[in-house]
Amino acid sequence: MADVPSAAKLLYVKNIGFSSTESMNTTLCENIDWVGHVDWTVRDFHGYETERGSTYNAYLVRDEQTALIDTVKAPFADDLLQKIAALCDFNSVRYVVCNHAEPDHSGALPRVVQALPNATLVCDKKCAEILGEYYDTAGWNVRTVATGETLSLGRRTLRFIETPMVHWPESMFTYVPQEKLLFSMDAFGQHYATAERFDDETALDTVMEEAKTYYANIVMPYGKSVEKCFEKIAGLEISLIAPSHGVIWRAHLDRILAAYRDWMQCRSKPKVLVIYDSMWGSAAAMAEAILEGAGLHGVQRKLIHVRRSSFARIAAEVLDATAIAFGSSTLNGGMMPMAAAALTYLEGLRPKGKAALAFGSYGWGRGGPEGVDAKLRDIGWEILRAPLRAKYRPTPEILAECRQAGRGLAEKALEKG
Ligand code: FEO
Repeated sequence: MADVPSAAKLLYVKNIGFSSTESMNTTLCENIDWVGHVDWTVRDFHGYETERGSTYNAYLVRDEQTALIDTVKAPFADDLLQKIAALCDFNSVRYVVCNHAEPDHSGALPRVVQALPNATLVCDKKCAEILGEYYDTAGWNVRTVATGETLSLGRRTLRFIETPMVHWPESMFTYVPQEKLLFSMDAFGQHYATAERFDDETALDTVMEEAKTYYANIVMPYGKSVEKCFEKIAGLEISLIAPSHGVIWRAHLDRILAAYRDWMQCRSKPKVLVIYDSMWGSAAAMAEAILEGAGLHGVQRKLIHVRRSSFARIAAEVLDATAIAFGSSTLNGGMMPMAAAALTYLEGLRPKGKAALAFGSYGWGRGGPEGVDAKLRDIGWEILRAPLRAKYRPTPEILAECRQAGRGLAEKALEKG
């Protein structure tokens, strides 16, 4: 680190002022610091409802040659540059590593490349191509790397591990063997805004809940790719995992790694979910009856109204459920719109190995339960029976059939979960 700040650094400190979170503990180890941004107010991350906000994590590795690992969303470029300026001279930053081209991590790159005149952008070949699609990279100094290549910073080394499809085709981990530190990009992340930066400084149950929700909504379609990632890092000694979102893992690595091993297999619990939307209460009554019927010892049950929850939470509940009843009333000859949207969202996430049934109500025309049934088949789940249907109001006989179907779901959950 240079003792005398550059003019550029002084300009940033003077003009931008200090972040409200500057007193946080941001040091991972000697001369490796978090320089990201805490986004307390974001509640919509490309459609994923982020109830607890998020962070965009970037890290500064100061050595004989200094490297910045990732950047932040474009609107927060000034905050990132201010944090870098507080730690080193801009001229001393020789590398900017881009582990992932998605704009929540690369959006600030154009500003950063402009502000750090001696920096070379380091990324894999695919990432260079994608960055070239997003930004005018013609004047950028880019060095492409591949799995196994290393970059010496002096005392420390950066080792690169390509991790395609976790989360995009160009994604990459960066490992610092001297510190047993893995910069894991989206993997092991959480959309969770906190004033604390480490897993042992905040409520672990909440961190795990957000890590699970993050996995279900961002990583779940790429379980096979996550398995390959685990094979690639199997031989590494890891004491710190620094993801691109949320808190840094230093005390509970076993917990998050074990959870990922379950999630990447979509491993389920003996758990029944009843998810529905209802117009005048008929589908709701059927949902309650199915839930009641599923009340077997050892079976966890949850009832979710799609307009009283969020798609992000529904996806997280589906991740480890075994058996799912999904219902909808009929509206204009089809499913209720939010039921249809939830199923479309789940279809994209591709949760595997679930057993399911459809239910719902109709009046003079059909379409709700039938639409659900067709979508459940599109998702690829095992369909346990023909849709349960009620005309206008469920009769006592139909409610009894719902309870019986619920019991069937519970038995399936015990068998497979
Ligand atoms: Fe956090 Fe795939 O971006």
